[in-house]
Amino acid sequence: MIEMNLKVNGREQNWQVEPGETLLEALRRHHFKGPKLVCGTGDCCACTVVVGNKSVCSCCLPALKADGQQVTTVEGLAGEDELHPLQAAFIESAASQCGFCTPGFLMRSYSFLKNRNPAILPTESEVRKALAGNICRCTGYVKPVEAVLKTAQALKEKASQQNG
Ligand code: FES
Ligand code: FES
Repeated sequence: MIEMNLKVNGREQNWQVEPGETLLEALRRHHFKGPKLVCGTGDCCACTVVVGNKSVCSCCLPALKADGQQVTTVEGLAGEDELHPLQAAFIESAASQCGFCTPGFLMRSYSFLKNRNPAILPTESEVRKALAGNICRCTGYVKPVEAVLKTAQALKEKASQQNG
């Protein structure tokens, strides 16, 4: 076992991991069960988490690559008393059906929006491109895309209120 230190959802973690263990395995072993294991080969993105500022398929990332990093999983999106705007929009738009892909969609969308200027709304095709690797068998993608566009609009309004 090898020791590693990282922050998950803002909390310090000190883990012992196997050399070949993936970040997904380590997260789930430490009770972060939001990221899902589906393909395990980087093809579906149900296991998406954000490492630093980048969304990654955690089933393909060796856990040790996250040593010293900040990791955000779907469990870290909501505030103490309220859902993240993306989570609220997914509910409002009925963008989650069986829900198995939803943590991955939320984390990919979160990273996409976080790395953009909130004053500039994304186009539908930009959102579709950002989510292209996330596989969903239920929704037909229309609702998740709609939810991300709604969130972008809400974040733009919030940013303009904050800037007076
Ligand atoms: S479970 Fe990681 S990409 Fe499918
Ligand atoms: S909601 Fe079922 S796989 Fe996406």
